[in-house]
Amino acid sequence: MSTAESSSPLIAVDAIADGAFAEVEVCLDGDYESAVLYRQGGSVRGWLNICPHAGRRLDWAPGQFLKSREGHLVCAAHGASFSLEDGECVAGPCKGDALRTVALQVRDGQVYLA
Ligand code: FES
Repeated sequence: MSTAESSSPLIAVDAIADGAFAEVEVCLDGDYESAVLYRQGGSVRGWLNICPHAGRRLDWAPGQFLKSREGHLVCAAHGASFSLEDGECVAGPCKGDALRTVALQVRDGQVYLA
């Protein structure tokens, strides 16, 4: 029997292709928010799916995110590019701003809020 966890997994790591994105709902401070997850090998990083430029979602359709040739996450609204290391905007209308990090933890092949 599995042990009871205080929180349920957001998604299995293997449900995200290596180098690809997934969209999940996260509960932060009692509010449900859309988040973008990015998998790199066995690690997964996450940010709120809210662009610091004009507050729009980053995906062009639910769960469909753009990745540039340089390996940045690109906001579908006006093209701001974000580093997949730290979520900082490296080019575009909100250069220097950053996505809001969602702290994650990978355990037993599952992704949890940290
Ligand atoms: S809302 Fe993302 S670049 Fe404008």
